Amino acid sequence: MSRELVRKLLVASLLTLIAAVCVASFFYISQPKVVVNDMELWTPGESKHPIYINHPKGIAVVDSGKRHQDGSIITVRCNTCHTNKEPNLKTKSGDELVDFHQKMPFQHGSLSCVSCHNPDNYETLHLADKTELEFKDVMQLCAQCHGKQFSDYNNGMHGGMTGYWDLQRGPRKRNTCTDCHSPHVPAYPTVMPVFPPKVRQGSKLPDRSH
Ligand code: HEC
Ligand code: HEC
Ligand code: HEC
Ligand code: HEC
Repeated sequence: MSRELVRKLLVASLLTLIAAVCVASFFYISQPKVVVNDMELWTPGESKHPIYINHPKGIAVVDSGKRHQDGSIITVRCNTCHTNKEPNLKTKSGDELVDFHQKMPFQHGSLSCVSCHNPDNYETLHLADKTELEFKDVMQLCAQCHGKQFSDYNNGMHGGMTGYWDLQRGPRKRNTCTDCHSPHVPAYPTVMPVFPPKVRQGSKLPDRSH
């Protein structure tokens, strides 16, 4: 083999190697961090304490406007009405709703209702690839379209937290997206303060009446 050929082969294999490393590290880095709900752990390495991620309990329901004797709300399940109702895939605003959910406030990009709600079963949501999603896993839905905020969230720069930075000392608690943003009108109210300090038992709220 000529020297020139050897040199060319060496350069070629070096370039291939560099390309392979780039591709591999891209996939490695772009691997999303898995955020698991509730009691399950999301712990980098071995930590003594978990990170608890808040999530909505149960399924979404409709307030019937009626109350039980003890004052609690009488709710109606979605499928009470929707199992036998053909879903309307086009609805995009509260104004289009005349028979029920009238004038529901809705202002979220140009999404339609079924961008999130699963038209085959309104007691669940769905991802873009049509995977059915429980209401409690709503963060996965938001994350799908708001990747930047979700990765900021994973890096602790969005969404707040309480508890311990050092998971050897104690657990950490995190909010879910819908603790702060309504899914229907997600613009964060600018006047809304970050969470107010907890009022301890016996202490009074500051008097703001004047
Ligand atoms: C009392 C009956 C009733 C209940 C309970 C109810 N819906 Fe509806 N829903 C309707 C009716 C009727 C419409 C159509 C309104 C219109 O287009 O004028 C509708 C429309 C909708 C739409 C718009 C798209 C479509 O298919 O028309 C969505 C999304 C929706 N409902 C979700 C839900 C969810 C989620 C729940 C439970 C949290 C729920 N609904 C509970 C009666 C109900
Ligand atoms: C961005 C995703 C998203 C879109 C788009 C969306 N929803 Fe929802 N919706 C949710 C989530 C999540 C809940 C669960 C309640 C919560 O987290 O506040 C919910 C709850 C509901 C409920 C029950 C509780 C309530 O707030 O009354 C109804 C009814 C409903 N949606 C109807 C609709 C209709 C009608 C539309 C279209 C006009 C729509 N949704 C668009 C995500 C969405
Ligand atoms: C199917 C895609 C999609 C999903 C799912 C989705 N969003 Fe959005 N969201 C959008 C689009 C599109 C906009 C409007 C364009 C923009 O301002 O970036 C938007 C805007 C927003 C805004 C800015 C609102 C404003 O007016 O400034 C917030 C906050 C937000 N979404 C939160 C959420 C949360 C929380 C969830 C989960 C419940 C969610 N989104 C689910 C697509 C989505
Ligand atoms: C502790 C409350 C809180 C939680 C939890 C939270 N956010 Fe936000 N979010 C905010 C505030 C405050 C703003 C407005 C200030 C800003 O732009 O940073 C905001 C802004 C946004 C915006 C609009 C950004 C823009 O530039 O207009 C999006 C989109 C968003 N959040 C998505 C999410 C998603 C997705 C999650 C869940 C992974 C989430 N947020 C969790 C408080 C929260």
